[in-house]
Amino acid sequence: METRAIREQFLAFFEERDHVRVPSSSLIPNDPALLLTNAGMNQFKPYFLGEQTPSFARAMTVQKCFRTVDIDEVGDSSHLTFFEMLGNFSFGDYYKEQACLWAWELLTETFGMDAQQLWVTVYEGDDEAAEIWADVVGVQSERIVRLGKDDNFWSMDVAGPCGPDSEIFFDLGKDYGDPSPLGPAGNEERYVEIWNLVFMENDCDSAIEPVADLPKKNIDTGSGLERLAFVLQGAKTIFDTDTLGVLVAEAASLTGVAPGRDERSDIGLRILADHGRGLTFLAADGVLPSNEGRGYVLRRIMRRAIRQARLLGRDRLVLPRLVEATVRLMGGFYPELVANKDLVLEVAEREEARFSETLSQGLAQLESEIGRASGTRREAKAGARVGGDVAFKLHDTYGFPIDLTVEIASEHGVDIDRAGFESLMEAQRERARRARRTASDAGERSVLAAMLDASGPTEFLGYEHLEGEGELIGLADGAKSVALAAEGQEVDAVFDSTVFYAEGGGQVGDMGTVKTPSGEAKVLDVRRLAPGLTGHRLRVLRGEVRVGDVVAQGVDPVYRSGCQRAHTATHILHWILRDRLGEHATQAGSLVEPGRLRFDFNHFDSLGDGLIADISSELQDRVLSDDTVRAYETSYDFARSLGAMAIFGEKYGDFVRVVEVGDYSKELCGGTHVPHTSQIAVALVTSESSIGANLRRVEALVGRDGLRFLAGRAAVLARSAELLKANPEDVAERVERLLATGKDMERRLAAQDRDAAEFDAQALARAAADVNGVRVLVARRDAPVDALRSLVQTLKSRLGSGVVVLGAAGEGHANLVGGVTKDLVERGVSARELLAAGSETLGGGEGGKPELAISGGPRQEGLDAALEQVREAVLRALEP
Ligand code: SER
Repeated sequence: METRAIREQFLAFFEERDHVRVPSSSLIPNDPALLLTNAGMNQFKPYFLGEQTPSFARAMTVQKCFRTVDIDEVGDSSHLTFFEMLGNFSFGDYYKEQACLWAWELLTETFGMDAQQLWVTVYEGDDEAAEIWADVVGVQSERIVRLGKDDNFWSMDVAGPCGPDSEIFFDLGKDYGDPSPLGPAGNEERYVEIWNLVFMENDCDSAIEPVADLPKKNIDTGSGLERLAFVLQGAKTIFDTDTLGVLVAEAASLTGVAPGRDERSDIGLRILADHGRGLTFLAADGVLPSNEGRGYVLRRIMRRAIRQARLLGRDRLVLPRLVEATVRLMGGFYPELVANKDLVLEVAEREEARFSETLSQGLAQLESEIGRASGTRREAKAGARVGGDVAFKLHDTYGFPIDLTVEIASEHGVDIDRAGFESLMEAQRERARRARRTASDAGERSVLAAMLDASGPTEFLGYEHLEGEGELIGLADGAKSVALAAEGQEVDAVFDSTVFYAEGGGQVGDMGTVKTPSGEAKVLDVRRLAPGLTGHRLRVLRGEVRVGDVVAQGVDPVYRSGCQRAHTATHILHWILRDRLGEHATQAGSLVEPGRLRFDFNHFDSLGDGLIADISSELQDRVLSDDTVRAYETSYDFARSLGAMAIFGEKYGDFVRVVEVGDYSKELCGGTHVPHTSQIAVALVTSESSIGANLRRVEALVGRDGLRFLAGRAAVLARSAELLKANPEDVAERVERLLATGKDMERRLAAQDRDAAEFDAQALARAAADVNGVRVLVARRDAPVDALRSLVQTLKSRLGSGVVVLGAAGEGHANLVGGVTKDLVERGVSARELLAAGSETLGGGEGGKPELAISGGPRQEGLDAALEQVREAVLRALEP
């Protein structure tokens, strides 16, 4: 039975039983608690928790899943990283009995499995499930096994919905090991899990302890499609099925290693098949390789696959062909693979090119460290271990994911000092943190948090007003709460309401002034100190500021309008980037300041000048088209259903603010914006650069700052034109011509220098005297010591057999360079010893070898005498 048919029959079976077909969600989960989608139920979590109500009570999915827990097992008969999970779900509708009956019916009747080969496990305390299997479904009681929480209680491994489960196993038979009376509990190799039925009825905390009942009892089932195919196709391993088998064959043709050569190379081929497929799906869903989070998972499997390919003897690119094969194989059911193929290929190719450069160097280092560590083990008879500093260097310099380093070392029976590695990583992060602005210290935060308890959250009135009135609730001077602050003091203040925007969503906090009945203070910065609590950094300009004062607040309008221009421009830019580059170009960070913005986003390549110019010009066009900017509050779900962009990793409450620009950009955003895009006036991209692996940064200027930038550029151009005596339009061409002329002149000068040196060398060579058949030249040439050195070398080769000593003097120093041809060195003549005769006269010493030596000292006036002394030494040395 083909994999395709299994998928279809599963869906048809549950469709007949009134299940609504829900598409697979992305591998990037819409759930900050999860790194990657790892189960069919992920997208339904809000339904199970009762946070949202689905419009259907039964659903079925074929869900893309990715799990790294089993990565070390990949290569055996049944484990994978990426897989397709078939699932049927009930949201407060049918429960245990129906779920068990249907699962059994599908397996034994539709798929025709032999009931004698099936086993079930149930949670130890779940008598109900055990009875259903035995009495209602009719499973023989010897093949019903009760297991504990580790095996039969399912959770997402994070806080959330969970519950007891019951798993169905298939007995692969005697080729896979001895039978066990405990079935799956006795032999994991022989009995493979093919379906998990979760009775989702609890809500657990992060320690996976159930803390409450869910509002309803639900069903969540998951059956690995590849495992079903493995069993139904009677394949030897999961890699011999009609899907993964094709990828193994591709890996074999790439490496020239046929399957079945030996166990080690089979594992390598299977890793290539699994990882090649996994990386294709991850990248197609918008994951880009990096050193963090899901990007790290992608990088790790890519680099792991590359290493396996090299071990199998393939030196050239492997990943792109694995990608192509996956798209061919699975693009029919997953159109996103086809749509994003170019992107995935590009990502794979770049990552491979990048890692290939450092892989062999890194491996050589690691192997020598491993060798050294094993050596120590033999001496010390202790466990061999490679230091954390080595792992850190491999990570930092050669791009070895730590898990890869650990894996390679463990293949040699050597450990890695992981704690040492982590502490070096932490130190590196700490350095980065320190380089950033430090947040107010913990003591200060706790004083202000106490204020929050006393006063409740700060009401924000600044969307509509730049001026307002608020009561001063509390003042903190460092970690102390104070009642008043006097002239010159800097303190943090909390008001019951404020018109000042607190730093957030990339936008910097407002500046401005506050006036109290008895004083005035400047607002230097405004930050959110705790959710709902706004802290204002004040410097008292005159008089006093007291707790209890009613203060007049005024935001600096120029500062604020500069921020608003930049913030709206940021949204427009984000939209344009995604529109031009693709969905993956999402925001990774932003800074919105008066008049300027910085926008970091995910992308793997430089944009190039042409594209930057295009983007900049579209940005300006959208500014001038005067679209309306609207902001409104709504529920998170409604906002997402409108397609509003949420920034990954930001925490949103149930109520969110949506900012819309025209009819195109929609983002969840708490920032302040211009009401019409034309108020931005000017927006231009000024730079684009890389700030890390697959992270790019664009900077732009808006409003007056944009104009000032343009005016500055125009002035530079005008000045250049004046100097060149050219029209501004002709400046570039004139500079090009000048550069060409300059180059030409340099070339000619260099040629002349060479000629002159040649001439000089010839003249000197002619001046050499003959001493007992040896040519001797001792002369003064006031040139830089490097030039002397090369002249001595040239002369040596001209003279055939001889001694050359040249001297030069400059401001406060003199040098001698001496050379002796090889035949004389063999007779015992040494340039270094010859120079020693003059060193004292120069007030210095000599260094070098018998063939070539240099001496020098501060007494420039002694040069001629020193040359004379050296000449005498030469003559002595050459006496027969
Ligand atoms: N959530 C369960 C699992 O992933 C069943 O779908 O195994």
